[in-house]
Amino acid sequence: MISRRKFLGRSLIGSLGMLTASQTACQPTPLETSVPVSPIAGEPIVISTWDHGIPANAAAWQRLQQGGSALDAVEAGVMVVEADPNTTTVGYGSTPDRDGHVTLDACIMDHDGNCGSVCFIEHIMHPISVARKVMEDTPHVMLAGEGALQFALSAGFEKMDLLTPEAKERWEKWLVEKQYKPLINIENHDTIGMIAIDGKGHLAASCTTSGLGYKMRGRVGDSPVIGAGLYCDGEVGAVVATGLGEMILKTLGSFLIVELMRQGASPQEACEEGIRRLAKKVKNYEEAQAAFIAIDKNRAFGAYAIHPGFSYAIARGTENQLIRCDSLLKN
Ligand code: GLY
Repeated sequence: MISRRKFLGRSLIGSLGMLTASQTACQPTPLETSVPVSPIAGEPIVISTWDHGIPANAAAWQRLQQGGSALDAVEAGVMVVEADPNTTTVGYGSTPDRDGHVTLDACIMDHDGNCGSVCFIEHIMHPISVARKVMEDTPHVMLAGEGALQFALSAGFEKMDLLTPEAKERWEKWLVEKQYKPLINIENHDTIGMIAIDGKGHLAASCTTSGLGYKMRGRVGDSPVIGAGLYCDGEVGAVVATGLGEMILKTLGSFLIVELMRQGASPQEACEEGIRRLAKKVKNYEEAQAAFIAIDKNRAFGAYAIHPGFSYAIARGTENQLIRCDSLLKN
């Protein structure tokens, strides 16, 4: 569990309330090696995956300050990363599949168990918002491919080309050798996943990704699958996953971790058990990265990865800090 290790220093980011997402996006974010403990009753917390969690958290926080709910915050937060052409693993500018198509997966879930998802969707900058519309405006949970696109267009989303010239150039270089060997913490650092609790104690979770770079056409990972990419139960907690979707799908890691918390594990203990289970059940698990972040309804949180190198960002109080995650394998 998160030990009572000393909390090393203050965030260099400053007051979230005074920063916009774009202001924080390029700022250096040195990693902390331990996390603040002792949750404060009633305080909002936003946690998200990888370094791009810093600007995502800032946008989520702003949404909370404007009176938004945890659900509003986790949507607004990950939208920043979806729109960033420099993030090659999410949304606009991300790495295409091996045929040169950018295909996206996303899902969202609230404290009441409402959820929506899109997978294998093309041409839409913000799949997370389409996922939310699926949740709120349809009787379904998941829409895929052409149907998801058709729904998005009918809901007013704009159709656009998500393959930037830079991503196209990288893809054309890749075509020369067509090697398919995702690198740990590089092609694997795919998903922006976010979990949040708001001032009312409501939880929510979101995740959005382009999935593995140069994947087979039609490949869908864990991120749009409720229970794999994320899970949220307002009576217990919320979890989101990142890493190689095939591994996370095989153990339904996010659902498992919420269930472990329901049975009394702390978020940290549950994340560690989720990774241990994956390591036990998935052959060659050490060849790829996977990680989980979790928060419970009492605002305790935790995270764990297979490999070193995973970072996650926590926004609370006046801080937005990047934390180096502990891992099962140590190098
Ligand atoms: N975790 C995202 C994916 O594998 O697609």
